[in-house]
Amino acid sequence: MIDTHIHIDEEAYAPDREEVIARQRESGVEGMIVPGVNAASVASVMEVCRTHPGYCYPALGLHPEDVKDDWETQLAVVENAIRAHRSELVAVGEIGLDYYWDKTYKEEQKEVLRRQLLLAHELNLPVILHNREATEDCLRILKEIQMVNGKCPNSKLTGVFHCFNGSRETARQILDMGFYLGIGGVITFKNCKLADTLAELNTTPSLRGRVGERLLLETDGPYMAPVPHRGQRNESRLMSYVAEKLAEVYDCTVEEIITATTNNAKRLFGIK
Ligand code: NI
Repeated sequence: MIDTHIHIDEEAYAPDREEVIARQRESGVEGMIVPGVNAASVASVMEVCRTHPGYCYPALGLHPEDVKDDWETQLAVVENAIRAHRSELVAVGEIGLDYYWDKTYKEEQKEVLRRQLLLAHELNLPVILHNREATEDCLRILKEIQMVNGKCPNSKLTGVFHCFNGSRETARQILDMGFYLGIGGVITFKNCKLADTLAELNTTPSLRGRVGERLLLETDGPYMAPVPHRGQRNESRLMSYVAEKLAEVYDCTVEEIITATTNNAKRLFGIK
């Protein structure tokens, strides 16, 4: 298993970070992708990844929730860091739109997303996208960028909709654009429709088989721990509960899910 989204550099893991990482290694987690969220996290992401080369892989970006009055300064720092650390990065992220908490900086969020997508495209890096209650704008901006830079949907700009929990129609559009779906603990939550959505997609003739080639496992740790650990601090080995749920959806073994999602992660992020 590769955890394609864990904030292992954050405060929540400060007391025992090294033990947490060691425990994931022992539990068969092959690697983890650590996305940055703002200017301050550039240093913490790079440090943890340099301490664990070949295991922790860095991504850098300005998260929509960190787009405030000082966004231009934040973005300049993050963009410079992305260029400076290009050879070590596996993605640009975490970037995106979030209209759930605060719509004050909606226009700024869109501008910040556009600029980081263009940079990712220029540097030939995939993107890790955060989308909360902003699906329409997210998809429109991605399509604009793909159109500007090539023949939509053949643009080389690609990436993952992290913590996906959208509709069948949204998933179909994401897959059509060549993007991946990051599946986390939310799929194990009571009342979550995601398992049904994925099962329905898999019966759509034009999508059959393609869906499994585009799924990634992730934790979004420290958040989003799966049932039966919901509410606790998340860690990568708990993705086994997500893999179990996916095995039910696709009527296959947990091992097949793990193999497929690991290969998908390696392909998207260029991990050997
Ligand atoms: Ni995140």
